[in-house]
Amino acid sequence: MSDFPSSLTRKHILTRKHTQDFRRVLALNRNAAGFSRDIKNLIYTTVCDKADGAFVYDLDGNRLTDLTMGFGSILFGHNHAPIRQAVEDQLMKSWSVGPISPLAGTLAQNISAHTGNERVAFFNSGTEAVMVALRLAKAVTRKNYIVYFKVSYHGTHDTLLSLKSDPQSHLARAIVPGVPQSILNESFLLEYGSDESLDFISKNKDRIAAVLVEPVQSRNPSFQPVAYLRQLRTLTEAHNIALIFDEVITGFRAHLGGCQALFGIRADLATYGKVVGGGLPIGVVAGKSRFLDATDGGHWNFDDESAPLVRSTFVAGTFCHHPLAMASALKTLDLLQAGNGETLTALNHTTAALCARLNTEFEQRGWPLSISNFASLFRFNTPGRSNMIYYYLLMNDVYVWEGRNCFLSAAHTPEILKDLEEKILLSCLQMEADGLIKATSRSIPQ
Ligand SMILES: Cc1ncc(COP(=O)(O)O)c(C=O)c1O
Repeated sequence: MSDFPSSLTRKHILTRKHTQDFRRVLALNRNAAGFSRDIKNLIYTTVCDKADGAFVYDLDGNRLTDLTMGFGSILFGHNHAPIRQAVEDQLMKSWSVGPISPLAGTLAQNISAHTGNERVAFFNSGTEAVMVALRLAKAVTRKNYIVYFKVSYHGTHDTLLSLKSDPQSHLARAIVPGVPQSILNESFLLEYGSDESLDFISKNKDRIAAVLVEPVQSRNPSFQPVAYLRQLRTLTEAHNIALIFDEVITGFRAHLGGCQALFGIRADLATYGKVVGGGLPIGVVAGKSRFLDATDGGHWNFDDESAPLVRSTFVAGTFCHHPLAMASALKTLDLLQAGNGETLTALNHTTAALCARLNTEFEQRGWPLSISNFASLFRFNTPGRSNMIYYYLLMNDVYVWEGRNCFLSAAHTPEILKDLEEKILLSCLQMEADGLIKATSRSIPQ
């Protein structure tokens, strides 16, 4: 490799000093993500205290084109004036919790209208929303086992923290320290999209409370198995199994109504987060009354004989209806609705076009890289040492976080995208010069 590592570290003198100064006290796995001794000096996370539009600004004063966009939570760009104003206005009124914010009801109504879910409940994160959705499914179906799928990511709830399963039992295997097998003994982990998974669910229908899917997995965005999802729907419906769409990434991104609307499949429960919070922490569980009624006993009226009669489980949280998050989410939905979803359509189209152009470039130059996308999410496929691309991108002022899911936002203008494309190609050329990628069958002249 050229003097690339020292050029990169020279760019981040203050960031690296900051990381080292606080390492002893600040426990942060992102500061060791992808650690390997040979690139040890390049292992540090980007630190920024300013963000605007499609850019973040690091401690060393570099302006980075942001492809992380708050892990996909910032759809309109950083510091978007209408959302900031809504949060500032709310800040002046109240940011207290305790009594419920009046915004919660309106937000629930809006989410229900956009997504077609009958009822809506609020939490603080995607992880919490998934945890609650599973609990509701178990409470209502009165069964205990859950199914989830390889390659998916559903946050950090213990029962979902595995990537491997036992080939005989299909139970998720303990691979994460602190998550013992006993916690995974009611979690089946199957192959997404496979006929075998359908057979397995069918055979174990009396034990399974919920099938949890990321309809399009963020780690495999080009796989969009709509026919399989329809089969899952039919199967789960027939056997009193809750079908849960985890739309924490796809919700309010693939379509205003998420994958349920895009694919025309109605799940029993859906979880949302990220985009809908407009950059503030939120988790949403929405779905059929049959399941959401297990939060509060179901509908009843004042001044008559009705009562909350449905058997309920327990859900709660100090910050669940935080007024700032409610205000930010309401404004985000207003903005999304303003063009009747046109912002999303345009952004998703822009993302697909960018990925197609880059894939054509990679192919013509004979580089082994490619990009997959779904809606405004994309991922580089980086065989072998081309996985160094993220460090070269950083050298060229493009920021991709350690989990490597990339997102475009409405703030990524055509000019920014043109510049981004040039930076991506430059990064690849530099990797080629440093021997990290090798062109095969180049179809354009050098
Ligand atoms: C599909 C999916 N579900 C759940 C989560 C967890 O959300 P959070 O990080 O807000 O807990 C994520 C986070 O990336 C996600 O991608």
